[in-house]
Amino acid sequence: MKISLGADHAGFELKQKIKAHLVNQGFEVGDHGTASAESVDYPDFARAVGHDIAENRAKRGILVCGTGIGMAIAANKVHGVRAANVVSADAARLSREHNDANVLALGARLVDEQTALQIVDKWLGTEFAGGRHLRRLEKISELERQ
Ligand code: RB5
Repeated sequence: MKISLGADHAGFELKQKIKAHLVNQGFEVGDHGTASAESVDYPDFARAVGHDIAENRAKRGILVCGTGIGMAIAANKVHGVRAANVVSADAARLSREHNDANVLALGARLVDEQTALQIVDKWLGTEFAGGRHLRRLEKISELERQ
């Protein structure tokens, strides 16, 4: 499974840790940057990762900024993206089971490295539950079309 990554300056270090963790596990990773702690604008990276998802260049995306909030807001503007900003492995699991989240948005200033990697593992390892949740996702897709 290919995973598209992006971060701003606040998320840069954690993004590097997540990237190494994913590569170690054998995932194919596409990294859109940023490549340093120099100040940048998070929507640029949310856009790149969101388009990878929307255009089927990656199956999942992971975005990191200070809180994960700006990244989630921006990524959710891209058609077909369901970005979830979570701070626990439990919420990560539910974002997959109930919402089929295809983008994970993490806040490097809110979660420590160990928690972030646990969130990533749980999120990547959980399948969408379907059933009644599928009907609800179809209603979200309908909103995108309106
Ligand atoms: C950058 O200072 C910060 O605003 C950004 O990383 C993010 O937290 C926005 O939601």
